[in-house]
Amino acid sequence: MFHDPIAQGGTVSENRPSGAVERDGSVPEPALSDALLRLARSVATEAAELAASRRSEGVEVAATKSSLVDVVTHTDREVEEFIRARLAAERPGDGFFGEEGAPDDSTTGLTWVVDPIDGTVNFLYGIPQWAVSIAVVENGPDPQRWRALAACVVNPLAGEVYEARLGGGAWLSGRRLAVSTPASLEQSLVGTGFSYDSDRRVEQAAILGRLIGRVRDIRRMGAASLDLCAVAAGRLDAYVERGLKPWDHAAGVLIAAEAGAVLQGEDGRAPDEALTVAVAPQIADELITALADARF
Ligand code: IPD
Ligand code: CA
Repeated sequence: MFHDPIAQGGTVSENRPSGAVERDGSVPEPALSDALLRLARSVATEAAELAASRRSEGVEVAATKSSLVDVVTHTDREVEEFIRARLAAERPGDGFFGEEGAPDDSTTGLTWVVDPIDGTVNFLYGIPQWAVSIAVVENGPDPQRWRALAACVVNPLAGEVYEARLGGGAWLSGRRLAVSTPASLEQSLVGTGFSYDSDRRVEQAAILGRLIGRVRDIRRMGAASLDLCAVAAGRLDAYVERGLKPWDHAAGVLIAAEAGAVLQGEDGRAPDEALTVAVAPQIADELITALADARF
């Protein structure tokens, strides 16, 4: 079902763009990040197949979280524990930071940032737009301090595996990804998301009312990791959201960046809960201005 570019003879590191420099100026260790990517891919793929099989058996809400509409299913928890156990068996000492369970501290400097099911509401309703999202970062789990080394996002119902290794490009089922080249903001398709808090959602809808006339259209597809991958694949020209948790954006941000997107948070910082923007370079300045005008 899934295509594996490394197993098929290529290595992601062979495609490393020359001159790729990391945030701290150092060059990543390709052998380590290739191995981490292989592990991320294999665990994310198995986890996605587990989630899809549980979905076909029926889904039950286990609890609500921040609000009545912020739900967790038994499968979210089961899949997270599956991922935690697989990673701990392969890489004892690495940290773990997932949406559903308690974090594990890192003794190696590496932390796995995991959303077992991103797009839980879609999962609940049977909308085939949800994914398992796994990233491995140095200096986690604060997005302002971390450096993501490898990431994989798997949408099992679409049969799509998105992945990236730092400096190695972004890939969808064996095809190298590149962001779109939109002619202008007004011809650009922009993805976003809404909060689980109803008051906040009302404010967000008002903000979008000030933005929607300046773009081609707006999409709210329901899984932030896949929205970021959609920017990487040129299926969206941009994606903007406030309120994302580290597990929502960790993998997708690396994949979008490796496909050539401009990634930004608040006031020029790295993307985080305050703000995540991923945008094709051609329209980055126009979008940032439009967001400020809309008081996004
Ligand atoms: C949510 C989805 C959604 C985004 C929310 C996230 P979850 O994650 O990614 O698209 O708008 O901000 O919380 O709850 O489905 O894992
Ligand atoms: Ca989730």
